[in-house]
Amino acid sequence: MSAVTKAVIPVAGLGTRFLPVTKATPKEMLPIVDKPAIQYVVEEAVAAGLNDVLLVTGRAKRAVEDHFDENSELENALAQKGNQQMLDAVRGPVELANIHYVRQGVPRGLGHAVACAKQHVGDEPFAVLLGDDLIDDRDYVLPKMISVREKHGGSVVLLMPVPESEVHLYGCAAVRPTDDPQVVEIDDLIEKPAKGTAPSNLAVIGRYVLDPSVFQVLDATAPGQGGEVQLTDALRVLTKTDAIKGGGVRGVLFDGRRYDTGDKLSYLKAVVRLAAGRSDLGPEFREWLKSFTDSQEFSSPKN
Ligand code: UTP
Repeated sequence: MSAVTKAVIPVAGLGTRFLPVTKATPKEMLPIVDKPAIQYVVEEAVAAGLNDVLLVTGRAKRAVEDHFDENSELENALAQKGNQQMLDAVRGPVELANIHYVRQGVPRGLGHAVACAKQHVGDEPFAVLLGDDLIDDRDYVLPKMISVREKHGGSVVLLMPVPESEVHLYGCAAVRPTDDPQVVEIDDLIEKPAKGTAPSNLAVIGRYVLDPSVFQVLDATAPGQGGEVQLTDALRVLTKTDAIKGGGVRGVLFDGRRYDTGDKLSYLKAVVRLAAGRSDLGPEFREWLKSFTDSQEFSSPKN
């Protein structure tokens, strides 16, 4: 069975939940302290051994491409000033991985974005990491997902328990246990189930290891929820497809630190959590944060 060597990171979405900032700035470029969200996601792919990274970009996403390009003017200025620390910070994203790009001309949904990767990926299993979904580096789980794929074939999704009241916002899985307490077999997947109809509280979150047979299924997948081509709908077909044809979907259970940086509240939590854990900023920031929360001065004159 082929090894997983490629990562696909879709970043072509409109980011409507984070307007107005996302009108001209890609949400994947929003800073989490001093690095854009997308850099953390590429670093996670590389940490899992996936140096071949395909970014699925679209309109108004030029800043993402620029971030991973050289900026010789800036580098020369920093070199002249002898500012090695900032020079390393600027070179970091350039040297991180072999980054490739494909355009999704119209954002027709996550399933459609993944389908745009077909030519680059070819007939091999591959990982998908959502560009606005950040997993804390203390809780990386992609290597476990890859090992499940290597052991069983088929596709693997990441499942996180969410409160009953939120499950209708996600793709949701009907599952059966396996010998491995961290792994479940998936019998069914439903994108954004109507309230009260979810088969479990296990939500699909932004990491996948997919069998290449998903491309054929995506080609035949009609737009679903929200008029978008849903990856969950294609994976649902794969839960009902024979293993010999690339079917079978398993879930890895996750209860670590994860942030949806495309959601305002989750984004704020990510910034605070990561800033508080930094060795340079953390001590002073934590002290301020404590005195701020103790002070109860939360009312703000303007949103
Ligand atoms: P989201 O559903 O969170 O992105 O997709 P969105 O559509 O930009 O969000 P809202 O609801 O309008 O705020 C998850 C990931 O998939 C990408 C997004 O860029 C994000 O990283 N995506 C989504 C695409 O690349 N293409 C699409 O058509 C949709």
